[in-house]
Amino acid sequence: MFQFVSYYCCGLCPIKNYTILLSSAIFMLSFRMETKKLIEDAEKYLMHTYSRFPVVLRKGRGMRVWGTSGKEYLDFIGGIAVNVLGHCPPKVVVSIQKQAQRLIHVSNLYHIEPQIKLAKLLCVNSFADKVFFCNSGAEANEAAIKLARKYASDHRGADCYEIITTLNSFHGRTLGSLTATGQEKFHKGFHPLVPGFRYVPYNNIDALRAAVSPKTCAILLEPIQGEGGIVVPGADFLKQVRQLCDDNGILLMLDEVQTGMGRTGKLFAYEQFGIVPDVMTLAKGLGAGVPIGALLATDRVASAFQPKTHASTFGGNPLVCAAAITTLEVILEDGFVLDHVNRMSRYFFERLSHLKIACPEKVLEVRGMGLLVAVELVRDALPVVNACLDRGILIGTAGAGNVLRFTPPLIVEEKDIDVLISTLEDILEK
Ligand SMILES: Cc1ncc(COP(=O)(O)O)c(C=O)c1O
Repeated sequence: MFQFVSYYCCGLCPIKNYTILLSSAIFMLSFRMETKKLIEDAEKYLMHTYSRFPVVLRKGRGMRVWGTSGKEYLDFIGGIAVNVLGHCPPKVVVSIQKQAQRLIHVSNLYHIEPQIKLAKLLCVNSFADKVFFCNSGAEANEAAIKLARKYASDHRGADCYEIITTLNSFHGRTLGSLTATGQEKFHKGFHPLVPGFRYVPYNNIDALRAAVSPKTCAILLEPIQGEGGIVVPGADFLKQVRQLCDDNGILLMLDEVQTGMGRTGKLFAYEQFGIVPDVMTLAKGLGAGVPIGALLATDRVASAFQPKTHASTFGGNPLVCAAAITTLEVILEDGFVLDHVNRMSRYFFERLSHLKIACPEKVLEVRGMGLLVAVELVRDALPVVNACLDRGILIGTAGAGNVLRFTPPLIVEEKDIDVLISTLEDILEK
């Protein structure tokens, strides 16, 4: 069919223009029907856990993805901070292909070469001495919760099990990580939750101090709250939390599922705040799109996990680890990606601050760090997200529903930011 149309289009055949138009219309119609059918099947066969946009994405390259309708989208959500190197990054694709031909999966009953290499790479480039691999952010936090309890039970006794987390946080959807998540709207319908959690307001050291008791074994925090609306804490907050933990023998556990892997302009966000945690969780960008999570800890804390205390069948399998090794190598290559993130971040924030000045009655605040960026609107953000979708740009929401969230691939360029800003200007002016 495609050859048929291009034959006419290139003028080899003296057929009338309306035939070409008719063929294109048939094409468009068949794409639309295919998309409609796929969405009908999705409704019928998939559990309704997501309110999805009426788009089926089929193909991606760099900053762009294409739907089954043939429509092109500029991607400023990047799989919600997952596609750090853009879509189908060539080096990651090659390493997945090579690894798939060599070894896809073996059990953790045996040593796994890419897993060992990835663990070493993560430890050499962070505070950590040891890594445990799993498959998602929720699983990484679940593992962190278990590690904190086990460490406290070994060193401080069975009564020390409480974990303090913050209101408005997000740590995942498994029962433990859901309980850690300080947002009632996610808890509704799933009680009884896991006992032993307390919640305090974010960025409030006095509330945190008041919540600490001899039962407290750990504080679990996002260095920047992501789902909660891209909330950046005050400059000293994390330092004060570190001090509080040190003074009371409490573990500081940072959830860097969204902030890690270069998102803020450093490999890990804790580096931005001049502190070092005892435990850190990663996922999202770690594999540039393949499902992998990780729990990192110092030797002292990691020693609480021994054979038969924790495990995962797929955790750290050869295929995902090969992808994550390449992802890390690309990010660390001569600091190229991180320098680029910082340059693009400056440009993005500068353009957004002008947007705020241009639309003061629509935009309340522009905030974030690196390429974790939010625009808080006066009104609901969803109509703006939908309008961007219509115009071929993917963006997200966060927080109370009036926050636009941008987590583009770290390879985003000025020209992409220009397209986004002029589209936003246009939409907000209307
Ligand atoms: C900070 C944070 N922690 C944990 C999670 C859960 O990760 P996953 O969806 O991979 O389980 C998320 C997901 O958005 C997150 O942003």
